[in-house]
Amino acid sequence: MADVSNINGINVEAIRTQFPVLDQMVNGKPLAYFDNAATNQKPTSVIKALEQYYEGYNANIHRGIHTLAEKATKAFEDTRTTLGKFINAAEPEEIIFTKGTTESINLVAATFGRKFISNGDEIIISGLEHHSNIVPWQLVAEENGAKIRVIDVLDNGTLDIRQFKSLLSSKTKLVAVNHASNSLGTINPIDEIIALAHEVGAKVLIDGAQATAHLDIDVQALDCDFYALSAHKCYGPTGTGALYGKRELLEAMPPYQGGGEMIKDVSFEKTTYNDIPYKFEAGTPNIGDVIAFKSALDFITEVGKSNIAAHENDLLQYAREKALQIPGLRIIGDSDNKLSVLSFIVEGIHPFDIGQMLDASGIAVRTGHHCTQPLMERFKIEGTVRASFAVYNTKVEIDRMIESLHRIVKFLK
Ligand code: ALA
Repeated sequence: MADVSNINGINVEAIRTQFPVLDQMVNGKPLAYFDNAATNQKPTSVIKALEQYYEGYNANIHRGIHTLAEKATKAFEDTRTTLGKFINAAEPEEIIFTKGTTESINLVAATFGRKFISNGDEIIISGLEHHSNIVPWQLVAEENGAKIRVIDVLDNGTLDIRQFKSLLSSKTKLVAVNHASNSLGTINPIDEIIALAHEVGAKVLIDGAQATAHLDIDVQALDCDFYALSAHKCYGPTGTGALYGKRELLEAMPPYQGGGEMIKDVSFEKTTYNDIPYKFEAGTPNIGDVIAFKSALDFITEVGKSNIAAHENDLLQYAREKALQIPGLRIIGDSDNKLSVLSFIVEGIHPFDIGQMLDASGIAVRTGHHCTQPLMERFKIEGTVRASFAVYNTKVEIDRMIESLHRIVKFLK
């Protein structure tokens, strides 16, 4: 592993020791985990934070005056503050905890969508979207008669911005696009998309699920109206994530769910709602996981996002070059500006078979449509094999994948 030490300002060997799950054999071979776009692995600090919470101060938050409740409340709110700084929100109250990106988008659809989008209005999404940034808008459109318009995807997996401009009009009420594609890794020009959308008075939601752990995010500089993200794609626990929203919008939106915490006063005649963010956080939240999410954000900050990005980009370029030497292999989505996602097909071989045979060699990739069926249809394919890299991956692991791919192609063709 000498090839990876202290390159790009990080020591990958040292980082790997913080991820106990990586140190195991799978099907008799050392694990090479390349399914990071689905969920990445968790450092010891995150696992310990969970353990410390449940062993030391498990309690409900915002309700108790006892010591444990106060400690848990403080830790929970510390994550809100840390995440606010991580994406440069103007204030922590603009961060709402949810189950993850999917719930964050559904929250906006169910509140902003119902109140501010009506019959004849238009919602623009893109051909690169995950189902979770398609279906919630279809549900809104079915209910209120709005129309969905779709930004085309060009052959290299980037968005057709010229065509996007032609979709924009005074009817556009919302533009909902991802910061980076989970399937292909394409990084979208969201600053341009946001500025163009604002020119026609539309609000913009960014699905940041794939981008949060890899790209610098400054929601104020971007001027996005909403930014949705998941902890589990940022080295944090599953089942938690957040929605960033501009204060004035969150205040104008109706509540998402009814229950405890989101109210100020309840009587049978009338209920008044709590202030943001609590107005959108009905019920006991996922306290332990939110607390542990802070350790994940601290991990990224300590290693340094630009160091992580440089390392991942190195891995991507290395893998791309080697992959292109495999007979019949075609990369799907080959933008110059992409995350460390290598999505490919091999002529005449089903992605599922490749995935299974890689797994037999201890190499974990995702195969299939990656919850982006319209995108697969755009490329006239059923699915791809997707290898996605994280801070702890190495070129040695990539060499193993490439060797295996050569073997698989020889065997199956
Ligand atoms: N959205 C996740 C993926 O891309 C699950 O695999």
